Amino acid sequence: MKFKVLTLFPEMIRDGLRTSITGRALENNLIELETVNIRAYSQDKHGRVDDYTYGGGAGMLMQAQPVFDAWQAQVSGRKTRTIYVTPQGRLFSQSYAAELAQEKELIFLCGHYEGIDQRVLDEVVTDYVSIGDYVLTGGELPAMVMIDAISRLIPGVLHNEESAETESFHRNLLEYPQYSRPEVWHGQKVPDVLLSGDHRKIAAWRLEQSEGLTRERRPDLYAKYERQEAVIQVLSREKRLHIHMIESLRRGRGEVIFWKDRAVCVYDPDYRLGMFTAAPGKDAASQLIAAIPQNILDEMKYVLTTDIAIYRELADRLSGDKIRIVSEGRLACYTQRTFLPVKYKDIRLLKDVDLEYLTAHREWQDADQPAERIRAKAFYGAYAEQRLVGFCGWLPDGRIGGLYVEKAFRRQGIGTSLEAFCINRQLEMGFVPYGFIPKENEVALRMQGGMGLYLSEGHVWWLERS
Ligand code: ADE
Repeated sequence: MKFKVLTLFPEMIRDGLRTSITGRALENNLIELETVNIRAYSQDKHGRVDDYTYGGGAGMLMQAQPVFDAWQAQVSGRKTRTIYVTPQGRLFSQSYAAELAQEKELIFLCGHYEGIDQRVLDEVVTDYVSIGDYVLTGGELPAMVMIDAISRLIPGVLHNEESAETESFHRNLLEYPQYSRPEVWHGQKVPDVLLSGDHRKIAAWRLEQSEGLTRERRPDLYAKYERQEAVIQVLSREKRLHIHMIESLRRGRGEVIFWKDRAVCVYDPDYRLGMFTAAPGKDAASQLIAAIPQNILDEMKYVLTTDIAIYRELADRLSGDKIRIVSEGRLACYTQRTFLPVKYKDIRLLKDVDLEYLTAHREWQDADQPAERIRAKAFYGAYAEQRLVGFCGWLPDGRIGGLYVEKAFRRQGIGTSLEAFCINRQLEMGFVPYGFIPKENEVALRMQGGMGLYLSEGHVWWLERS
């Protein structure tokens, strides 16, 4: 991700971001930062960039010309997403950060004084964003806040042990209280349960604390959380068929876009995956699709539906836009908590050098996906004769998939071990592992049962926008 910041105070941005985690990410080239001094584009002989406002009023306004020229020097013809930070913007949030983290490049425009001439904003800005209902003296701090929040979502920026933090916020709950040594401080003891070593009890205590805190301090978030839990309950009546929706919500990826009776739409904005389920029949499907906001339908790239009637409704609603059925299949989930045996031992996390192998031996949904999966630490390889001979991992929505083993190394349990390895990794992360199996893949269908996975009775359909 490349951040370009147009500002009158470039050193403030550079100084602010060069320490701590963003500093490390810059050093490791996981993010790039370019600051552009708007004053360098002033045509005034004294380098002025501001003037009085027409119609009167206190304070000065940044003029259109230097801002436009500074912006134009950065965009090279293409319209790059350009964010103007302003108290008059859309409120910044975790999900907005996740959306922006998908871009390859972002331009931030930082205003000062009373703001910037509206005419240049109309020409260049794609997003007006506020970081909160208060007024700061300039746009530099908000731009830095946003760059920090976006950067930590870029794969590799946070180390594994740091990244879990995001999940709890995504689930619409505030983080539970935490304690470190000493056990007693100022006469206050660390809660007993945290010293018990009983991980299930600890998890239950933390959830209870999170719920209590959120209810008290953020009733708005708590209402969302309650609704999400209610939807999970409805989906859980047919758990195997809805495991992808349940896990998407539980892992903090998906949001409930619509829910009425048995009709639910969960949307994963990162992966642009819409997940639909409804009572059987045309009416339920058409009511569900009619209830989805147009901007979400426009953005959606993939669809996973438990009812083929949804496909026809989508095809109607997206007239002009093509949507096609990629695959019909079933979901398989592993609902136990015990680790699976992994017979084949030489399995390791894939690295950048394995990219070529990963790209060559599988069809990917898009060209960037294998590199992105490696960065996300989501793919593992099996090694034999000192080289890579197969791999498996999880895809951006979290389902386990992409299993491949070279022909000469099949029938030795490598595939089963790779899949079991990935299942175990996901169990460690607290997930219920699941996958999608195309109905024609009989080998895979048989393998799931043998490993203790449960198949959904009903079918699901993968759709893709072209
Ligand atoms: N500029 C000044 N105040 C701001 C705020 N709250 N959010 C974004 N930009 C700003």
